[in-house]
Amino acid sequence: MVQRVLTTESGAPVADNQNSATAGVGGPILLQDQHLLEKLARFNRERIPERVVHARGSGAYGFFEVTDDVTAYTKAAFLSEVGKKTELFLRFSTVADSLGGADAVRDPRGFAVKFYTEEGNYDLVGNNTPVFFIKDPIKFPDFIHSQKRDPFTGKQEPDNVWDFWAHSPEATHQVTWLMGDRGIPASYRHMNGYGSHTYQWTNEAGEAFFVKYHFKTNQGIRCLSAEQAAEVVGKDANSHQTDLLQSIERGVNPSWTLYVQIMPAAEAADYRFNPFDLTKVWPHADYPLQRVGRLVLDRNPDNVFAEVEQAAFSPNNFVPGIGPSPDKMLQGRLFAYADAHRYRLGVNHTQLPVNAPKATVADNYGRDGFMATRNGSRHDKNYEPNSYSGPRQTDVPLSAPLAIHGWTGTHAAPQHTKDDDFFQAGELYRLMSEDEKARLVANIAGGLSQVSREDIIEKNIAHFAAADPEYGRRVEEAVRALRED
Ligand code: HEM
Repeated sequence: MVQRVLTTESGAPVADNQNSATAGVGGPILLQDQHLLEKLARFNRERIPERVVHARGSGAYGFFEVTDDVTAYTKAAFLSEVGKKTELFLRFSTVADSLGGADAVRDPRGFAVKFYTEEGNYDLVGNNTPVFFIKDPIKFPDFIHSQKRDPFTGKQEPDNVWDFWAHSPEATHQVTWLMGDRGIPASYRHMNGYGSHTYQWTNEAGEAFFVKYHFKTNQGIRCLSAEQAAEVVGKDANSHQTDLLQSIERGVNPSWTLYVQIMPAAEAADYRFNPFDLTKVWPHADYPLQRVGRLVLDRNPDNVFAEVEQAAFSPNNFVPGIGPSPDKMLQGRLFAYADAHRYRLGVNHTQLPVNAPKATVADNYGRDGFMATRNGSRHDKNYEPNSYSGPRQTDVPLSAPLAIHGWTGTHAAPQHTKDDDFFQAGELYRLMSEDEKARLVANIAGGLSQVSREDIIEKNIAHFAAADPEYGRRVEEAVRALRED
């Protein structure tokens, strides 16, 4: 084996990597020790800002394989043929805690997929929950502030968490989900992923459909109770990372089956629930699951920083045949992510290997900026239109246009006939077995009983009671019992 030579950043050989250069034995260090200066300075710059949410995560590469024909609904090339495979990268995450937090906590999980398709990268940035806490992006920074560490105490505060929910009745559905059994997945492999939002598919004929994505885990759903989770966190704060890494290293490749619910665009206006309200599901009896394909993870990244920390997903990275719906939350996200990446990773984050297209090439007139590695050659013009056979637009829209009407203004989301903040939360509660209900109530009471103000507690209990009177009564009794202790 040839012995490799240690070098400086500029490639010069390093004479001594154990002792810094000093003025005599025991004397002060010399400024001329280039290797020492470079090593310390580089070390100081190893960290970049962590994600403002979903800071903590794990990722892996794999592929998506089409198993069922969906060409009647979308012209997306990567979904065009049964048997077709597309390389992908998936990053899982927790939401609220910082990079150094623990994995086995009660929190939604991120489920962000980057499909490296031949028509460009398609990012589906979802969660392990089919719904979300709020329905308007203007509330997102307040919501996240209330769930993350308090700026004074430096830790998550039950007062803040529950105060926000007290003022957000639309969160009752997602809170019921989060406080239930699925609130703490046993691992990233043992949970489902959801696109959560409604998206739009467009077929070759230009017909539009609204779709919801469901990735069902083939490992089976496994969850932890609050007590089990506390034990796991004590033993291995990185339990999800350990599990994913080791399972793929052992060749036990986790997989998910992708299903979609499909709604013809014309049915959206009169559906009993607002189909663009992220706090609502579409019951499967209304729109059944249709299988599309399977997603398999089979390769761990070689470097967590380069490939997981620097991974950048944007819900507005669409490909032909897939587009946004008018869901206001989704519309807000179409701005927020790429903006976050420009801040966190820089304007050329799309050129990093994990983010760059793999099955096609990006070819446009964007140039320069920090760390640009794709700047064209001397023959490539940096403006368009031009007379030099540079890349041109296709004149083919990616997805069908969305019909709009009305006046500009700060409108609340439209209410469909069955829409309110509580009905679906009540349906979820009533679906649970008696044991599940008991654990749900205990989990809620465990947090809510720590709140210092009675009015905040009462408002939250009123939301659960509005979902189902029995649900409200049981939470109230459990909270009172804990507060009297
Ligand atoms: C208006 C609402 C939302 C806003 C403004 C928002 C904003 C953000 C921002 C700024 C990040 C950090 C991005 C980065 O630095 O890389 C992020 C990460 C993430 N968000 Fe959201 N978010 C919203 C709602 C949602 C919803 C509804 C979902 C799921 C359905 C979701 C899933 C995720 C995931 C999975 C990540 C981590 C992506 C990764 O692994 O890099 N977010 N979000």
